[in-house]
Amino acid sequence: MCGIIGYVGDKKIVPLLIEGLKKLEYRGYDSAGICVLDGGMLKSIKDKGRISELEKEEPLKWISGNAGIAHTRWATHGKPDEINAHPHFDCKKEIAIVHNGIIENYQSLKKLLIKEGHMISSETDSEIIAHLIEKFYEGDLEEAVTRVLKLLEGTYGLAVLSNKEEKIIVAKKGSPLVIGVGDGEMFIASDISPIIEHTNKIIYLSDGEVGIITKDRYIIKNIDGNGVDKKVHEVKWSIDQIEKGNFKHFMLKEIFEQPEVIRNTFRGRIKDGKIKLSLNIDFKKIKRIILTACGTSWHSAVIGKYLIEEYAKIPCEVDYASEFRYRNPMVNTDDLLIAISQSGETADTIAALKEAKGKGAKTLGIVNVVGSTISREVDSGIYLHAGPETGVASTKAFTSQIAALTLFSLYLGQESGMDIDNEILKEMEIIPEKIEKVLENSERIRNIASRFKDKNNFLYFGRGINFPVALEGALKLKEISYIHAEGYPAAEMKHGPIALIDKNMPIVFLATKSSISSKILSNIEEVYARDGKIISVVNEKTPEVEKFSEELIIVPETIEELSPIINVISLQLLAYHIADLKGLDVDKPRNLAKSVTVE
Ligand code: F6R
Repeated sequence: MCGIIGYVGDKKIVPLLIEGLKKLEYRGYDSAGICVLDGGMLKSIKDKGRISELEKEEPLKWISGNAGIAHTRWATHGKPDEINAHPHFDCKKEIAIVHNGIIENYQSLKKLLIKEGHMISSETDSEIIAHLIEKFYEGDLEEAVTRVLKLLEGTYGLAVLSNKEEKIIVAKKGSPLVIGVGDGEMFIASDISPIIEHTNKIIYLSDGEVGIITKDRYIIKNIDGNGVDKKVHEVKWSIDQIEKGNFKHFMLKEIFEQPEVIRNTFRGRIKDGKIKLSLNIDFKKIKRIILTACGTSWHSAVIGKYLIEEYAKIPCEVDYASEFRYRNPMVNTDDLLIAISQSGETADTIAALKEAKGKGAKTLGIVNVVGSTISREVDSGIYLHAGPETGVASTKAFTSQIAALTLFSLYLGQESGMDIDNEILKEMEIIPEKIEKVLENSERIRNIASRFKDKNNFLYFGRGINFPVALEGALKLKEISYIHAEGYPAAEMKHGPIALIDKNMPIVFLATKSSISSKILSNIEEVYARDGKIISVVNEKTPEVEKFSEELIIVPETIEELSPIINVISLQLLAYHIADLKGLDVDKPRNLAKSVTVE
């Protein structure tokens, strides 16, 4: 995720673009930049950090003009710094671009450009777009842009400005882009939030479309240059609604982003039946893997253990980072420590990583925030590409961590000579559609939530790879609804927790199809016999589960290894709806912080 904005018109352009960026800051906030066509020159200011940092730049005061573009970045390729910040330019600084998305084939295009003498200054995938436009430019910007688009693989919401004309060219594929139609002025942006205070007339660009924007008109074409008729929508949304995408809370928005997030985590990493990860670690030397993390990320680490042992057959241990760092752990030079973290800034995880590194282990990070401390400290890493997570309760980061761990464990297996089963690759491709089906259950889950919201305790039971999902379901509920909840491996119930079960105890069972479905069914019967109120997450309505369950949550079937991604989403929704029905502050639960940077 990144935010882009552009303007052609007579208003004071710098304040307009800066204010617009602030509205888009929820889409990314590690660096920002602005470029204005001022007296035939492209004048640009970029800065690391938030828009408030950019805004302080003195030279901004001296920039004026009638066409400009700006960007707030959420790093995917290259650390968050001034050089990697957008806009990016061609060699002569006559073409500026801002880009949201990922160009998958940028490495090969970059090599070609360097061979032809282009000086590429950033580590980003985006900068090559400006150089490619320069390469093809023969006096017609639109023509050059469309030629470049045909070469790009991946996703883009793109805006291009040149020093020749007061005009912006925009293009969209996979990343959002809208045009605001004003009176003698035009706006472009990633979404309508920075536009709506100026005009409510909005055009939503579709994939494969290109727009040519001047202050008095817009022309929309397809990539082959044929004109496209677009509807102009009259939008009546408030700013708050827009930033949250019309969702009541960021947490709900982020739950609903998960189909796209999982696509992004997998994007460009599965090709021709093989997993493509560029990791500079010699895995043949690795004898043991230690996964370490905190909280929700620790739950994905437990799932990672199942996946790595299943696909890569390497012994695996999981440790709470806070425990690992203080217990003088035995670590060897043929160990690999994997640190999992959404923020990349969790103090205990950083300390555990340093402890293992100090003892000679190789280290790998599975991290969302590009350029974060963990991503800089590790030998190698896999970014989640989940976009900014704003809700304090982690949702999309968790499922993308499982997706990244699936990629990694298959990659390890592949590197040791294993053939990857086609079935899992096929399922990985269609899992986003299956997540969409789970999300369709949201209202049904809200009904279940309304029935159970006043309970004081909950138990969550799962087995195998769904045991950590039970832990995560319980954590989600307790952190946002303040209801006491515990997750257990279902078979452990008889060793203690069964004493808690009576007619007042709701018990969520993860009972989707698996190699141990019959065992889960026996556990369900045992709870039923003690009057527990059972909510079962299942793949279909069977007479057995129906008989014993108060409520069923039916989710699509997938292979067992990927079932945590599907199953946890219904538990995220259950926790969300319970907390919302209780009228609690879902996005900022009491006593919690998004990033725990103290031990
Ligand atoms: C729970 C939650 C926390 C984090 C934990 C680790 O919803 O968000 O438990 O998972 O604080 O944070 P990261 O992943 O940033 O290291």
